[in-house]
Amino acid sequence: MATKIKAIYGTKDILPDEAGSWLEILSVVSRVAESGNYGLIVNPVFEATELFARGIGETSDVVAKEMYTFTDQGGRSLTLRPEGTASVIRAYIEHSLGMGSGVTKLWYAGPMFRQERPQAGRYRQFYQFGIEAIGSLEPSLDAEVIGLNYEILNQLGIKDLSLEINSIGMPSDRKVHGEAFADFIGPVLESFCKDCKRRFEINPLRMFDCKQERCQANLKDAPVVYEFLSNDNLKHFEKVLKYLEILKIPFMLNKRLVRGLDYYTRTAWEFKSGALGSQDSVSGGGRYDLLSEQLGGQPTPGIGFAAGMERILMAMPGDVEGKKQKTFGFYLVIGDERFRPDAFKLAGFLRRLGITADIDYQVRSMKAQMKQANKSGFRYAVIFGEDEMNRGAVVLRNMADSGQFEIVLSDIYSIGNAEEFGEFIGKGR
Ligand code: HAM
Repeated sequence: MATKIKAIYGTKDILPDEAGSWLEILSVVSRVAESGNYGLIVNPVFEATELFARGIGETSDVVAKEMYTFTDQGGRSLTLRPEGTASVIRAYIEHSLGMGSGVTKLWYAGPMFRQERPQAGRYRQFYQFGIEAIGSLEPSLDAEVIGLNYEILNQLGIKDLSLEINSIGMPSDRKVHGEAFADFIGPVLESFCKDCKRRFEINPLRMFDCKQERCQANLKDAPVVYEFLSNDNLKHFEKVLKYLEILKIPFMLNKRLVRGLDYYTRTAWEFKSGALGSQDSVSGGGRYDLLSEQLGGQPTPGIGFAAGMERILMAMPGDVEGKKQKTFGFYLVIGDERFRPDAFKLAGFLRRLGITADIDYQVRSMKAQMKQANKSGFRYAVIFGEDEMNRGAVVLRNMADSGQFEIVLSDIYSIGNAEEFGEFIGKGR
């Protein structure tokens, strides 16, 4: 036998038993996004490496250590996207999406790629959905986006959810903070890890993001940007919090929260779930008011978030949707192979009405087929048996209560839609 090929380390197959929840995530996201007037955007999964280097920033771990970068046959440096925002803004600029509209509102879902160390809830290919609102600095827009983030996670029933929020200001705030921070850290810099020493030189805020306990302990009393916000930026943030109160969204101010990507300005937040282990961030987002300029567009503020779908699967209540999926399905049981064409015809007819129908392809006994119908969670079995077929009829059996009755096949074929079919079955009870 040939050797088996396995999935690449750090990737994950979503199998049919999780598919109900997976589809539920996408349907809740699209519904909530639509409720806020956000339109779908689908971007390529690879882009020019420079987009991420400039957009996400050379000092972020994502760009410095985690990108899947390769050279194509034309000698171009390309990168599998590690996140979605840079591509959305690239497309916003490239297609002048902002022309003539106030705020451009977009949502997306798709795979992202980061060469991180895999562990529970952390993959090298993972799926995100996200929302971006481009073109306004109005604080109520911050609260709208955070509100939609909350609404989606809430509707999905994410357990033990909490929102942490902060303002990390603008570069001018960080410059003032940087001086106080350097005075505090300078004398104890030696006690930080190698990465933090590098971060200290190029982007000291990144040190708050360090995963080493020793570095976090050293930072315990370090000054935070929040204390150095300009009046305008502090006012902006206070208004965001007021609007969150109007929406009745509970939050915790975490002045030490910084995000892992360099484009963030002002408002930044994360939703965490206590149902997850150490990788407890379900979603994260913030403002990126300088990103458009950095990517060669007009100065245009923006705000958005993204959530990890595998983590949501882990924090969602069990198989609710998986079970719900087939409540109105029909498994066609073939009593004799002579009736296969009749069963096959009915399966095609039901599917055209949008009703789930399945059929046995292994020429198994009736008993085995009934077992299969049960195991797959079908609500009804339609039995093509000798006696009934002689009368042009089949037996419809309710799998839950074993109640059954006969229906004439030609009556079924005169039905025009799924609703009529439901009524027809109801009458036979
Ligand atoms: P992020 O915080 O890097 O932000 O990622 C957002 C979410 O993606 C995380 O909260 C987590 O659920 C999930 N995630 C990240 N890395 C992994 C991984 N290796 N394995 C599994 N899940 C992961 C962004 O990506 C920004 N683009 C969000 C944003 C949009 N900011 C503004 N607009």
